Amino acid sequence: MNDDSIAIAENFPFKTVSDETAESGLGLLQRPPTIPDYLQDTYWWAYLHPKSLWFFEREWVVNLILWGNMKKLTNAVLDETNFEQGSEVLQVACVYGNFSDRLASHLAISHSKLSIIDVAPIQLRNVKKKLDDHDNVSVHHQDSTDMLFANDSFNHSVVFFLLHEQPEEALRKTIAEAVRVTRPGGKVVFVDYHGPHRSNPMRYLMKPVLTMLEPYALALWRDALTVFLPAEIRQEQISSEFYFGGLYQKVVLQL
Ligand SMILES: C[S@@+](CC[C@H](N)C(=O)[O-])C[C@H]1O[C@@H](n2cnc3c(N)ncnc32)[C@H](O)[C@@H]1O
Repeated sequence: MNDDSIAIAENFPFKTVSDETAESGLGLLQRPPTIPDYLQDTYWWAYLHPKSLWFFEREWVVNLILWGNMKKLTNAVLDETNFEQGSEVLQVACVYGNFSDRLASHLAISHSKLSIIDVAPIQLRNVKKKLDDHDNVSVHHQDSTDMLFANDSFNHSVVFFLLHEQPEEALRKTIAEAVRVTRPGGKVVFVDYHGPHRSNPMRYLMKPVLTMLEPYALALWRDALTVFLPAEIRQEQISSEFYFGGLYQKVVLQL
């Protein structure tokens, strides 16, 4: 365990790699996940720098970045998460604003539990503090491309605006991991960017912005998210919806 992980484990009781390893009974020594290069190089200013939390952790900022669509896109997820009583639900990666708060409250109605993973300790500390009053939430230090959870650990999974930040290889692995840890019969819900219609002016406004700030997002403009799904997913298991002239997409897999 590196120094940062030790400090975090002492001050914030989120689950570290050694906890997960002990609980799984594997008895193997696992290294804590390291910050991926793409996150360090491209997104240090948004997720790793202490000032990033100060700036981005406000609902109006997140809403502005999503052109006023935060509520609509959060509701698009909540519409899919009227789960059976006592479900175990995974949220892959932390999100600024009140997305996780709303998801945790929504799941509490069905006495369901929410497990949140993230690779960045600073984000885990923040989410832990933010969701402290929810007793159905646990947070875990894990990498979305190589989770420590056993196969079929969760009833359902949610991946909200993570994929566009990842290079294609990591994006494919994240999708495959979300499918792997979700049980047959469950749902995997993705919400992310999508290439807008040619008639949508956002196409011309957002392309240079994303090229400069979020270059990996352009893979989701070029190809439908469904292109990156594992081969075993059949067409009839997939449903897609689009928002804001096609700038955003929701893809739901029924496993
Ligand atoms: C879900 S995305 C962004 C969502 C949205 N733009 C928002 O408002 O926050 C950002 C999070 O993904 C996390 N992340 C990036 N790559 C990851 C990975 N490989 N495994 C786990 N978390 C990852 C970052 O640390 C960050 O907390």
